[in-house]
Amino acid sequence: MPNIDWKNLGFGFSDVNCHVRYTWKNGAWDGGEEVKDPYITMHVGASCLHYGQECFEGLKVFACKDGKIRAFRPRANANRMVRTAIRTVMPPVPEELFIEALRRVVKANVEYVPPYGTGGSLYVRPLLIGTGPQIGVAPAKEYTFLMIVMPVGAYYKGGLKPVRAVILDDWDRAAPHGMGDVKVGGNYAASLFAHEKAKKEGWPVELYLDAKEHKYVEEFSTSNFIGIKPDGTYVTPDSHSVLPSVTNDTLRQIAADTGRKVETRPIPYEEIKTFSEVAACGTAVVVTPVWEITRGSDVIKISDPGSAGPVLSELFNAVQDIQYGRVPDAHGWCLEIA
Ligand SMILES: Cc1ncc(COP(=O)(O)O)c(C=O)c1O
Repeated sequence: MPNIDWKNLGFGFSDVNCHVRYTWKNGAWDGGEEVKDPYITMHVGASCLHYGQECFEGLKVFACKDGKIRAFRPRANANRMVRTAIRTVMPPVPEELFIEALRRVVKANVEYVPPYGTGGSLYVRPLLIGTGPQIGVAPAKEYTFLMIVMPVGAYYKGGLKPVRAVILDDWDRAAPHGMGDVKVGGNYAASLFAHEKAKKEGWPVELYLDAKEHKYVEEFSTSNFIGIKPDGTYVTPDSHSVLPSVTNDTLRQIAADTGRKVETRPIPYEEIKTFSEVAACGTAVVVTPVWEITRGSDVIKISDPGSAGPVLSELFNAVQDIQYGRVPDAHGWCLEIA
């Protein structure tokens, strides 16, 4: 067993046994290999370095209450990666190859899956990059698909913690017909400047409005937007420039299963003040309640800064109960690995 203080793990890189790596050449993926070295050697002309031909995913694997190890909704991530690959003219990683890579990398690093009860999980980061040299702008002729893993801790050590968010109208994350709906690294590079500025000025997360009119809510830099109405209705934006979040899809389904109304539609900025709860949602933390949103001199107070609202708390617990196998997996979301 590795010597890890499971209860105090953060969210960051750490050394594990290996990653798995596949190469696409001459129109086909090879059989892949387990690689111990966390460094990669590539051609200086690789298309991922020059023209950003790259994409990634993020998902989690859990040690469950019954002792089994399960990945949460990996096929949803595999399918999103296929869509991103097509959009960036890279060879899609077939869903079954994605699942094979996942089983391989988790089995090879099984002692790094945080034990049940610690609140941790094994974070899995699939990465697809153009590694063939390409100096004229065109798709590369060679690609690498990697899956790396790292143990991560419970984000909340004692209840959900609401945060403040800011809207910075001087920067957009994604153009209306750009790449906001796929998971390319460039989207994150595009948001770093505003993110660092927001952080320096005291806001841990920034919220983006639609790039065309700045009238409608889009999403946070690394998570989707959820608004809860006083009657419990779950509302989330419908937009071509928002990343379809697996967590948001999960929460919507759970909300519907528990009798809540779910609305996926444009959300005008002015509507924010009518919500009784707001959250950012994503794989890393499931939900981050947002108690206040600032836009210039407009400060919208949504909820109690000290604790999460009842609907978000209920949804958060429902997702974690499925992930850790404490309740039946009615939708078949969890894939047994070991
Ligand atoms: C821009 C953006 N939106 C939303 C999400 C949440 O997506 P998911 O729930 O699939 O992690 C992420 C994180 O992956 C993200 O980077």
